[in-house]
Amino acid sequence: MGEIQDQLLILVGALVCLNYLLKCVKFFKYFLLRLWNPLPKSFFRSMGEWAVITGAGDGIGKAYSYELAKRGLNIVMISRTLEKLQEVAKEIEQATGSHVKIIQADFTKDDIYENIKENLQGLEIGILVNNVGMFHNYFPCHFLNEPDEVQNLIHCNISSVVKMTRLILRDMEIRRKGLVLNMSSGAGLFPWPLCSLYSSTKAFVRMFSKALQVEYKEKGIIIQVVTPYSISTPMTKNLNPSIITKRADEFVKESLDFVATGDETCGCLAHEILAHLIDLVPSWIFYSDAFQNIVWTRCRNYLKQNSRIQEEIFEEEEGNGYIQQHYSG
Ligand SMILES: NC(=O)c1ccc[n+]([C@@H]2O[C@H](COP(=O)([O-])OP(=O)(O)OC[C@H]3O[C@@H](n4cnc5c(N)ncnc54)[C@H](OP(=O)(O)O)[C@@H]3O)[C@@H](O)[C@H]2O)c1
Repeated sequence: MGEIQDQLLILVGALVCLNYLLKCVKFFKYFLLRLWNPLPKSFFRSMGEWAVITGAGDGIGKAYSYELAKRGLNIVMISRTLEKLQEVAKEIEQATGSHVKIIQADFTKDDIYENIKENLQGLEIGILVNNVGMFHNYFPCHFLNEPDEVQNLIHCNISSVVKMTRLILRDMEIRRKGLVLNMSSGAGLFPWPLCSLYSSTKAFVRMFSKALQVEYKEKGIIIQVVTPYSISTPMTKNLNPSIITKRADEFVKESLDFVATGDETCGCLAHEILAHLIDLVPSWIFYSDAFQNIVWTRCRNYLKQNSRIQEEIFEEEEGNGYIQQHYSG
């Protein structure tokens, strides 16, 4: 009996070690693939002539537009504000010599896709970056106290990914090549209380993306979900860059090195390490009131110290009573 118990314990121990070993291998694959098997310079251009980027007028989308143009692709930028699009398109054309086409569209609306389809007709699209997304509660709060933006959030964060993929994937399937990058978030890796709706929309993007990669891998198409944490953009009120908060251009440059590392990436080493550290915290600790209080208090203080337009936002949100009501930061 004692022997069986011993063997069972050894087996459990071995399984736990194996689990950690696999996690380590997955983690080191990150460095190793980048160092030993870098993508050839022609990789992105070999996917096709054009790259389509949603939410391209600013932040991460603008950085993708720039970087892919530098790597030899012509760019279709789709975003909400025409003037910003025109300005960025001009900058990119002058800096890189690539052609840039712009399409104005508001992804919170559902009737924009016919126009987008017409504008994309005849283009050989090799890369789609489903980047557009909105974050409707800058301050964490309970679901019933969030601003009522449910429909906009679903259209912008979920429908846009599905509908743009539908528009573009078929041609990639025919050509048997293509790259689709879907922008999720670290908040989509597991449920984030006090950020429940945003976290859930990003979890959708992650699941959709990973399932789609299984379906289309054999057809030569790479579909990867990107799950970063903090990047300095208008969405994060241009937080000061740091070890964790990346500049959009440096993040995009680094994340493009990882497109061949699998169906999922945090996009940069710092966020990959952070994700692994968070993953080590047992869920009963992570979801305890005490831990949540610590996380959100620190998060709030971080935002307060680092956000460039702090006062305005903090006064507005504190006026709304979100913070006082829902966590004791
Ligand atoms: N920043 C982060 O820390 C972070 C972290 C994880 C994941 N993400 C995800 O990364 C993606 C890009 O984030 P970001 O920080 O670059 O965003 P951002 O700074 O808020 O916006 C980037 C661009 O998206 C456009 N846009 C926003 N809503 C739109 C709409 N309804 N229709 C059309 N265009 C719209 C904006 O248009 P205008 O030019 O009109 O403003 C802007 O050009 C999002 O999916 C976000 O969830 C961001």
